[in-house]
Amino acid sequence: MTKNLQEIKLLSFFGLKNFFEIPQTQELISQTLANLDEISREHSKRVATTARDFGKAVDFKNLDELEIAAQLHDIGKSSFREEILIKPNLSLNEKVIFQMHSVIGAKIVEILGLPEKISKIVRAIHENPDGSGYPDRLRGKEILFEAQIIGIADAFDAMTNDRGYNNVKPYAKAMAELEKGSGSKFNGELVKVFREKIVNNF
Ligand SMILES: [Fe+2]
Repeated sequence: MTKNLQEIKLLSFFGLKNFFEIPQTQELISQTLANLDEISREHSKRVATTARDFGKAVDFKNLDELEIAAQLHDIGKSSFREEILIKPNLSLNEKVIFQMHSVIGAKIVEILGLPEKISKIVRAIHENPDGSGYPDRLRGKEILFEAQIIGIADAFDAMTNDRGYNNVKPYAKAMAELEKGSGSKFNGELVKVFREKIVNNF
């Protein structure tokens, strides 16, 4: 373990108030993100910006934690070969492996020594209110609020940007998709705020 990593673990342990502002934390996060392929890295940056704005729009207080969890939400994908990330139609087995990115990502965050909450958020991004998500099939309020916010920002970004394997949708179509999943795949109240305060201002 590098000296940096030990310091981070120690600072995280003491729950320092300005933990996210210290240069070591920022450095660790950018070093970690450098392991991601470029498409996922750019996607993560955009999702982090949107998640922060979205968090502000719903009066969420811990915006730093939210933003860092969003930056790292796909970090589990850094352990996959790039082919699987851009393959359009995954086989059932490949899908199962691909879905492991949430669990692997949470583990990476844990190993880095970042606050436990961030690891829990990263693990829960793909949970759905109706219990159809993964990896723990959580339902409704069992899903961390932060994960629900990032989940919506993530889905919208994935639909509206070229990620090498998808058909890019215009904003209106992507918003309609979110509304279709309102209450089942996404928190209905959050979807409304997302339309009014985020997408309308894009
Ligand atoms: Fe994502």
